[in-house]
Amino acid sequence: MSHDLSIKRVLTREALRAEIANWRQQGFKIGFVPTMGALHKGHLSLVNAVRAKADKVVASIFVNPTQFAPGEDFDTYPRNEDDDCAKLQDVQCDLVYLPSVEEMYPAGSVTNVRVEKLSDLLDGGPRPHFFYGVATVVARLFLHVQPDYAAFGEKDYQQLQIIRRMVRDLGFPVEIIGGKTIRDPDGLAQSSRNAYLEPQQRPVAGAMSAALHRACRRLEAGASLKSVLTEAEQLLEKAGFDKIDYVTAVDPATLEALAGEYAEPAAEGRLLGAGWVGKTRLIDNMGYCRPTD
Ligand code: PAF
Repeated sequence: MSHDLSIKRVLTREALRAEIANWRQQGFKIGFVPTMGALHKGHLSLVNAVRAKADKVVASIFVNPTQFAPGEDFDTYPRNEDDDCAKLQDVQCDLVYLPSVEEMYPAGSVTNVRVEKLSDLLDGGPRPHFFYGVATVVARLFLHVQPDYAAFGEKDYQQLQIIRRMVRDLGFPVEIIGGKTIRDPDGLAQSSRNAYLEPQQRPVAGAMSAALHRACRRLEAGASLKSVLTEAEQLLEKAGFDKIDYVTAVDPATLEALAGEYAEPAAEGRLLGAGWVGKTRLIDNMGYCRPTD
């Protein structure tokens, strides 16, 4: 990793706009990767994904308070700005936007974005604040950066679909790119919160991707949804997951559960899983495609 940190950092919307206006005058297309920092290979692959389409790439680092509930890990969320900037520089990101809370939420700010229905399902059920906070900050970031392209990881599938819906509903002139999930050799999807896992919890955590992978292949081979979901939960329990929030098959667009307990799954769908290993909550998802006659 390079230690000469020359990547440009801007802290205010005004400074950001001046940079973007300069690029726009030169006819450049702008790509954007919003992050909360604690960057891993998944984030860096998103920079590469937008760079394939855009001339200039902006990344933001902002730990967004509105997507944390009181008692969640806002204060302890990993923060290391220099390390993150060095990683972004290494993948030729052009600019890092590091707004303050006041820059994102001016005093007295009362305007929020709610993507209804999709935000209330799955992870939104127990954490109702979460996707409202995400949609609100992403809408504000889009207005600050005004990108042509923005990339979000498929790992956070519900978030990705909510952003897509927000962009469609509000008519944001930005193309959303879904970046493939980047996995460790044991299959564990890369996530900033994996840093919370103890070494002995790693093999347990790896069972999530193995269970979903097996479930997808079984669905494609014609197994019933009920048997597949039951087996996936059993695999997670056997591996040592302390709690399973859900393993479910959903319609990718609406995120609604695809079928009742005994019904057959649709030809194409998304399997999503969420569960706890100790104090760490892990989520993952995979797509399946059942052959039709
Ligand atoms: O996925 C994340 O890191 C965050 O939810 C996002 C999209 C940067 C909004 O704060």
